[in-house]
Amino acid sequence: MSYIEIRNIFKIFGPDPQSALELVKGGADKDEILAKTGHTVGLHYVSLSIEQGETFVVMGLSGSGKSTLIRHLNRLIDPTAGEVSFGGEDILAMDIPTLNAFRRKRLGMVFQRFGLLPHRNVMDNVAYGLEIQGTARKEREAAASKWIERVGLEGYEAKYPDQLSGGMQQRVGLARALATDPEVLLMDEAFSALDPLIRSDMQDELMKLQAELHKTIVFITHDLDEALKIGDRIAILKDGKLVQVGRPEEIVLRPADDYVQAFTRGVNRSRVLRAKSIMEPITSGEHQAAREDWPSIQAHARLADILPVALANGTSMTVRDAKDTAIGTLSPQQIVEALEG
Ligand SMILES: Nc1ncnc2c1ncn2[C@@H]1O[C@H](COP(=O)(O)OP(=O)(O)OP(=O)(O)O)[C@@H](O)[C@H]1O
Ligand SMILES: [Mg+2]
Repeated sequence: MSYIEIRNIFKIFGPDPQSALELVKGGADKDEILAKTGHTVGLHYVSLSIEQGETFVVMGLSGSGKSTLIRHLNRLIDPTAGEVSFGGEDILAMDIPTLNAFRRKRLGMVFQRFGLLPHRNVMDNVAYGLEIQGTARKEREAAASKWIERVGLEGYEAKYPDQLSGGMQQRVGLARALATDPEVLLMDEAFSALDPLIRSDMQDELMKLQAELHKTIVFITHDLDEALKIGDRIAILKDGKLVQVGRPEEIVLRPADDYVQAFTRGVNRSRVLRAKSIMEPITSGEHQAAREDWPSIQAHARLADILPVALANGTSMTVRDAKDTAIGTLSPQQIVEALEG
C-alpha cells in the first residue's frame, strides 16, 4: 500500500449530491449532470496512490478538479463517495480534534496567495505553526531561523509581508510550511503568481530542498513545463476525471489522449527526455552493437545535454548505465526524431 491512497473518489457539489451521484455512476458526464440537475461534478471516480518521498504533481485545465483533489487530502472537503488514507490511516474517520492534530503535525501547506499573516513579521510567520503546537518561543525561533536561512531570507526576520516581493513572500510561505517538519507538503499553484524567472528560481529551490528532505509533496499546477521539471510523477485531470498518471517521460512520449497531447505540444522535449527512454537497447548477444570509437553517454542524461555531443561528433553514441555497462546505442537521427515527437 502506498503512503497516500485515494480510492474511488467522487465529489459532487450541490444540494443533493447523492442523487446526482447515481446519475454519474449511471454514466452521465459533467455537462449532462450540470444540465439535468444543476450539480457540479468536481471529481469523477478518481483513484491515486502517492508514494512516500515522491513529488507528485497534479495538473489540468482550470476547473478540472485539482484544488478539489488536494482539499480531500487535508479534508477541507469530504468526498461524496470514496476513501482517503495516509499511512494506512483512514482520514475520513478522524474526529475533529484528531483531524486538527493531523493537519498541524503531518501536513504543511503552501498556497498561491502566500497566505502570510500581514501583522506578523517574517520570524513570527515562519514560527506560527510551532507556536500553535505550543512550542516555547526560544525553541520555535531557533527552528524558524534555520528555515529562514535555508530559503535565503536571512536578515529579513523583522520585515513584514508587505515589505517583501512576491518571490520572497513565497519563500516565507515555504519556510513556514517546513518549520513544523511535516510529512507531507501540499502546494496548490504555489508558484503560479510569480514572475517567470522568480518562479523558475523557486522551482529550483524546492527541488534542492526536496533532494535533502524527501518529503511527500503534492504539487498542483496548470503548467506542464513546471510539472515535468519538478514531478517524479504527474497526474492529469480533465473534467474531474483522471486521464493519465505517469513519469514525465511517459507523459511526453505516450500521451494518453488528445487532451494530454495538447498539453505536451509546447514542451521543450530535450529537457524531459533521457537517453535511456529513446535509445536502441543492446540485447545480450550483441557485443558488437556499440563501437569502440563512439562517445559514451549516461543513461540518465537529458537530450539537451547529449545534443551537443551528438552534433559535434556526428556518430552514434553508446549509452551506459551507472555501472558503466553499455546498455544501448543512440544515433543523431533517433535524437532528432525524439525531439520532433
Ligand atoms: N465549493 C464549490 N461549490 C461548487 N462547485 C465547486 C466548488 N469547488 C469547486 N467547484 C467546481 O468543481 C470543479 C473543479 O473545481 P476546482 O477548483 O477543483 O478546479 P481547479 O482544477 O482547481 O481549477 P483552477 O485551475 O481554476 O484552480 C469546477 O467545475 C468548480 O466549479
Ligand atoms: Mg485550483
